[in-house]
Amino acid sequence: MSPFNTRLNRREFLRQTVAFSALTAMSSGAILEAQGDAPTAPPPDPSAPHMFLVGDWGTDKYIDQQVSVANAMKQWVDVRKIHPEALFLLGDNWYGDMGIGYSSPRWQKQFEQMYPTSHFPGPAYAVLGNHDYEYKISSKVDMQLEYARHAQGTRWTMPARWYTFTYPKQNPVITFICLDSNLPGTKSDPFPWSVTMSHKHKDEQNDWFRTELAKPRTTPFVAVIAHHPLYTNGIHKDNKLLIHEWDDQIRQAKVDFWITGHDHDLQHLEFAGHPTSFVISGGGGAELVDWTIAPEKRGPYGGKVLGFTDMEFRQDGIILRHIDQNAKTLHAFRKSPGGKVDLLLPLATG
Ligand SMILES: [Fe+2]
Repeated sequence: MSPFNTRLNRREFLRQTVAFSALTAMSSGAILEAQGDAPTAPPPDPSAPHMFLVGDWGTDKYIDQQVSVANAMKQWVDVRKIHPEALFLLGDNWYGDMGIGYSSPRWQKQFEQMYPTSHFPGPAYAVLGNHDYEYKISSKVDMQLEYARHAQGTRWTMPARWYTFTYPKQNPVITFICLDSNLPGTKSDPFPWSVTMSHKHKDEQNDWFRTELAKPRTTPFVAVIAHHPLYTNGIHKDNKLLIHEWDDQIRQAKVDFWITGHDHDLQHLEFAGHPTSFVISGGGGAELVDWTIAPEKRGPYGGKVLGFTDMEFRQDGIILRHIDQNAKTLHAFRKSPGGKVDLLLPLATG
């Protein structure tokens, strides 16, 4: 195991998870089971639907790192005989300049060919990160929306800055709510290219998000997909602004997952009494970043590694696996309908 991979030792883990169980059983019905005898993760089921999630991939400096993660994604498909239904691109899709319009060759090199249709024929649902908002030559936000609308035959899917859909179309099991988390105030540096969404868009999105969460639930699972984490052990720290805006709402609506990038690592955080599992998959290619809270102190998992996340839809729930650039599973857990979380020991065979 890499020295950067951090896993709770058994005693720390038991202490934390037993506390989770007692508190969450009282407050939310979600129980994170003690993992003294944690079950081993089942091998990925080729007959089950899978979706891959990857953030912070569109680097202009570390292309070799993006290639290594893309190769691991392809390897995971080939070796495990998986047929991914979709990709989720978790923002910071494009670092640096992309020219005018959407004619940059980077679209072909770093998206269309990097994640080829041979392995990923489904839609690639994208959300916007802070680097997507950088205004240098032109608006990379407008460019990405345009590319989704007009690029011939592309899988790039971004119908708006925020959007929702259920999956699968027949008898859906999950509602995805894709947000633009670049709220005004999330960027405080003085550079002229550091822009965020407007206050008008923020208000529109908040009205929309509130309405979506208030609708009667039609699927066993609800996942929010965005770029910025509310909680992270990484360099960006817990985001007070986003916690203030959204945490109460997702608690009340019992949102199952808040899945993001932004910190360039892989994380999974659970909090006593909180119904939401916080997942960070920001290891798509950009430079790795340091911890501000040691993952041993707040977990259950943090890995300072490049990699991606496999979301598998099974009869008994959803299994998420954090997978590194060598296509090795570092961390896995299952979330059952009703909110129960079971940590799973990664397969020794990867
Ligand atoms: Fe970011």
